[in-house]
Amino acid sequence: MHSIYSRVNNVSATLSSCLMVLLAAIAISSLFMGANPEGTLDIAQLRVFTGQTRRWPHQRQEFGFVNFNVTADLTPLFHWNTKQLFLYLEAEYTNAKGVKNEVVIWDRIVRRKEDAVINVVGKNKYPFREISSKFKNSEPAHFSLKYNLMPYVGALTFGEAARTETALDFPEAKEAVS
Ligand SMILES: *[C@@H]1O[C@H](CO)[C@@H](O)[C@H](O)[C@H]1NC(C)=O
Repeated sequence: MHSIYSRVNNVSATLSSCLMVLLAAIAISSLFMGANPEGTLDIAQLRVFTGQTRRWPHQRQEFGFVNFNVTADLTPLFHWNTKQLFLYLEAEYTNAKGVKNEVVIWDRIVRRKEDAVINVVGKNKYPFREISSKFKNSEPAHFSLKYNLMPYVGALTFGEAARTETALDFPEAKEAVS
């Protein structure tokens, strides 16, 4: 004899396994909807200034200032399983000690397809510092526009939408005028 409760239980178990299968199918299928957006990224200017950090007033620290122009059409990344995109501009270089660095200098969240055509002439939003305090003798830097696609269902995916064609040398640091 099945009570009403066990019947309800069976139905809901069936429904939730159907739902799991459906969610898995969505997650897997959107993995194969790979779009490969190609944009352009130009660095108009890379400057280095020596300044002071607030935390250690006696220690000198170099700061990089980046003026960039980035364009990319990210609308192909917006499909039915796209919740939002996290975009970021990254500086990639190897410092004098041979350590590879990837520093996020600008970012933006794109929530709507209408906002997915990127056309930004701007400068770094976050301080661009070298951990050893000096950029001197670092290898030339590349810059790239990367994205994380946050889906409604499934795993985050990562990609690159633009990259500088040639690497840029770090110039000699100038004294900041305060
Ligand atoms: C930015 O780059 C795009 C594409 O290369 C170009 O059409 C545009 O004129 C550039 N804008 C500036 C201000 O340099």
